[in-house]
Amino acid sequence: MSGYADLIQRDRVHSTIFTSEDIYQAELTNIFYRYWVYVAHESEVPNPGDYAVKWIGEKQVIVSRRADGEIGIFFNRCRHRGATVCMDAYGSATFFRCPYHGWTYDSAGSLVGVPYPSRYGEGFDKSALGLARVPRVGTSSGFIFASLAEDGTTLEEHLGNAVGYLADFANGSPTGTVSLTAGASKSFFRGNWKFVGMDGYHTNFTHKTVLDLRQRKSGPSAARGAGNTDKSLNESWDLGNGHCRLDLTGRDKVEVGAASTTSIAAGIPDTDGGRTYMRLMDEAYGDESREVIRRSRDVHIHVWPNLQLIGPSIRTVRPLAAGRTEVICYPAMLDGVPEEINTARVRSFEWFNGVAGFGSPDDTEIFERNQIGLQADYRPWLVLARGLEAEPRGNGSSVGNVTDEVPQRAQMRAWKTAMSQAGPTNDADATGKEAGAADREVTR
Ligand code: FES
Ligand SMILES: [Fe+2]
Repeated sequence: MSGYADLIQRDRVHSTIFTSEDIYQAELTNIFYRYWVYVAHESEVPNPGDYAVKWIGEKQVIVSRRADGEIGIFFNRCRHRGATVCMDAYGSATFFRCPYHGWTYDSAGSLVGVPYPSRYGEGFDKSALGLARVPRVGTSSGFIFASLAEDGTTLEEHLGNAVGYLADFANGSPTGTVSLTAGASKSFFRGNWKFVGMDGYHTNFTHKTVLDLRQRKSGPSAARGAGNTDKSLNESWDLGNGHCRLDLTGRDKVEVGAASTTSIAAGIPDTDGGRTYMRLMDEAYGDESREVIRRSRDVHIHVWPNLQLIGPSIRTVRPLAAGRTEVICYPAMLDGVPEEINTARVRSFEWFNGVAGFGSPDDTEIFERNQIGLQADYRPWLVLARGLEAEPRGNGSSVGNVTDEVPQRAQMRAWKTAMSQAGPTNDADATGKEAGAADREVTR
């Protein structure tokens, strides 16, 4: 493993970390099958019996809301001969029945039915053949994480400084909860998963179309992000553990469309819906409401390794190969607010994040160009030297100018730590307990 550590230097990284299939396999073992990774959102399985089929690396899992209301995550693999027992992305069911020979499991993963049981011998024990359970599951502000390692860092320890931003995101709602009920934008790109990061340096170039359109719509001051220069007060943050953040509040923000309506607080329009939203937030958060709203609208973080929260959107990253990645974006709907507020969030999401939006497709294009460029590995080291001297801000955080490569170095340091550890923990016994044992971990 020590060889991997040499690929990450203080101010540069070796491009083989983006192109090597061997390294991709090692990443699955050392990162996705060991660390806490984001799996699903609680709103995707709101009621007992609800399930969602998701992935941890290349392993497909069922996130299930059990009859007792708790969330269990099981490998989608029949204990008989291994077929997946659940094919739908979402649904609600009392049982999962394997299509191969009909073995049947309940929503807690227990094996409850085997066809023609008389042909199994005396020692056949159904109670030992429940769906294998992902060892550790935890939630934070509605975000469900899982770890395939039996022991180790708790979710709270892993999230560290990111916990507060997850809460800020959800607190844009008077109920403190969001729901992924407005669909998703799903895409694949031919590039490495690690390209999806926090980068304040690329905005004025990769997203010139976005800035030009905003300027045309709302005037020069509306080109949010255009302030991302070396003179900007905007910041890039290393939050520790690979998590990072952009703070784009260094200048007054002007929302898209704000020129045509008066803003009553942090981009909330002076309309019936906007005023009702403010009243609901005042009732929920009292004197803090304006600050809560401001914070909720300024979240711009990457929770390492595979979750991003940006404005109204949640973005998940799934590696498929060294040079292939799936990205799913969801507009997060605020619970308990007027429809007008959520409609605006969906429109904003479509405008930037949608597969036909003005923002995300440009990022995807760049990631693919990156992967093509890296095949020419004659001079293989990549430069991550912008703003090397980040300023400490306590709690292990450090901060630089928004265009600094503070986030990239933060993520590479986490990668180096993970890839330098001793062998995998996901051996046959460690990967999945029997359904039933309870060691759910909850973080708020
Ligand atoms: S593989 Fe599932 S019942 Fe045979
Ligand atoms: Fe971008």
